Amino acid sequence: MAQSYDIAVIGGDGTGPEVAAESVKALKAAADAFGFTVNFAEFDFGGDRYLKTGEVLPDSAADEMRKFDAILLGAIGHPDVKPGVLEKGILLRLRFELDQYINLRPVKLYPGVETPVKGKGPQEIDFVVVRENTEDLYCGVGSFSQKGTADEVAVPTSMYTRLGVERALRYAFEYAKNRRQPRPWKGLNQAEVDAGTTGQLTLVGKTNVLTYVYDLWERAFNEIGEADYPEIKRDYNHVDACCMWFVKNPEWYDVLVTGNMFGDIITDLGAMIQGGMGIAAGGNINPEGVSMFEPIGGSAPKYTGQNVINPLAAVCAGAMLLDTLGEREAAAAIETAVSDITENKLDSLAAGRMGYSTTEVGDMVADLVGGKKA
Ligand code: IPM
Ligand code: MN
Repeated sequence: MAQSYDIAVIGGDGTGPEVAAESVKALKAAADAFGFTVNFAEFDFGGDRYLKTGEVLPDSAADEMRKFDAILLGAIGHPDVKPGVLEKGILLRLRFELDQYINLRPVKLYPGVETPVKGKGPQEIDFVVVRENTEDLYCGVGSFSQKGTADEVAVPTSMYTRLGVERALRYAFEYAKNRRQPRPWKGLNQAEVDAGTTGQLTLVGKTNVLTYVYDLWERAFNEIGEADYPEIKRDYNHVDACCMWFVKNPEWYDVLVTGNMFGDIITDLGAMIQGGMGIAAGGNINPEGVSMFEPIGGSAPKYTGQNVINPLAAVCAGAMLLDTLGEREAAAAIETAVSDITENKLDSLAAGRMGYSTTEVGDMVADLVGGKKA
């Protein structure tokens, strides 16, 4: 019997449901073309449901999600709901409860896509950020004292455990080991790539100021690298310098690993150099459990319902979902379709300026994946 996957779809807020629908279209086309089946179940978590019912997320949601092979998420964030309520109550809560301890964010410039970084092309902008996804400033610990007075003190707690650091680092080292990206501009040829001696992992931290947390990261990084991944070249950047290099020399990077907060920030910069939020996808991954894939941009409420938003980030999230499920060829076919479309079809990646509607772009992806010429 053909392999079959159950996928939970949380369209969410704003343009989230529109882009998720196009990703579903691509997944169905890939399933047909590559001989597996996908079953979808939709969940209405998001701002509208919250405003109607007063409930952000049912307590049963994480258990419900555990029944699925993967989750596809559109976007969370509603203009009529105070910032933080939905983000913490839905997105972060699912990440934590499902223990999706990796946030995998590829930064890849597709052909034909304009980057604001002068003189760089698809060969130079192609790396992957492994963001730890459950600890750091995101752990939800902190306090106010004398709130509302002139003497108010607000203390957010950033916290890392050896276990949390170690599992993120091990994932990143494995990822670097398996990535085997030819980087010819560095003089690395295919034979070296095949031999697996080309992987490079950059730890991004702030060891000069955050002398507790990034000391722990750096020690663990070197211990694990030396003991178990001697073939992976280890590199270290302070986070501020990393931002500089993303713009100046993005070709230096292969795989990066960092804490939750820095990872959040540098991947928005990464999204910009790869052409914007219209194309940037990510995966909240629990390698031993259920993972959730999403376009990393927001809900773009002002474009809601106009059929103008770019669905390619959600489509790429769908490709990552298939890759994680082990459907590598199907995932690659979606990526190839996206690349074909950015190179040959779209005028721009920006909402309303693609030269096509949201649904037309989704149809082109599905046709290409299904072997029809768009
Ligand atoms: C992201 C977002 C979230 C984060 C917000 C919406 C909670 O910015 O996925 O990068 O900070 O992780
Ligand atoms: Mn972010």
